[in-house]
Amino acid sequence: MGINLTWYGHGTVGLDVDGQNVLVDPFFTGNPAASTTADKVEADFIVVSHGHGDHVGDTVDIAKRTGAQVITNAEMANWFEAQGLTTHGQHLGGGFNHPFGYLKLTQAIHGSGLPDGSYGGNPAGILLRAKSGEKVYLACDTGLFSDMQLIGEEGLDLATLPIGDNYTMGPDDALKAVKYLEPKNVIPVHYNTWDLIAQDADAWAERVNAETKTKAHVLQPGDEFNI
Ligand code: NI
Ligand code: MN
Repeated sequence: MGINLTWYGHGTVGLDVDGQNVLVDPFFTGNPAASTTADKVEADFIVVSHGHGDHVGDTVDIAKRTGAQVITNAEMANWFEAQGLTTHGQHLGGGFNHPFGYLKLTQAIHGSGLPDGSYGGNPAGILLRAKSGEKVYLACDTGLFSDMQLIGEEGLDLATLPIGDNYTMGPDDALKAVKYLEPKNVIPVHYNTWDLIAQDADAWAERVNAETKTKAHVLQPGDEFNI
């Protein structure tokens, strides 16, 4: 029981939620940090946070191979459905009881244009409550926003936060995010994929561990973390 998270590099995360495989932002092809390839991952569900290429990634190929249902905002759900995929559209602030647990799309400060220029609606973060009770917040691509305090009121067992800067929060704002969210554990993501978002994750983790009650865990692509 519980949630086993695998970080595949960049913003790509696999969640084994009580035996169901929930793959988030599956960017393998063209991802220099990826720990595996798109033809090897399993998925019962694929969640896509926003329309950028490094998050839509290999969604279409993996969903066609595995039959996974794609969970995303309504605009992107329509875009994936037009490519023959099975989808479940939601929208910001809305949650739904999926077979693996309750998943809510949350606010994210970012963009969401799709790779072919189509309109991808608004970008999202992901709040997941497993049937076994564990709560995880994946901030996905976002800048800092103070309403993270409201998400923190859920009582988070784990959060993943971008620290790469340039496209998302950098280390300083991600530290502020930890203070707003107060999760038991935090994992930094969306860094070191390219030189443009190179960061010292160990140094960031030391600041988190010194300044907050949250425990920071620095993973290497392919590493797992269980709650
Ligand atoms: Ni993005
Ligand atoms: Mn990104």
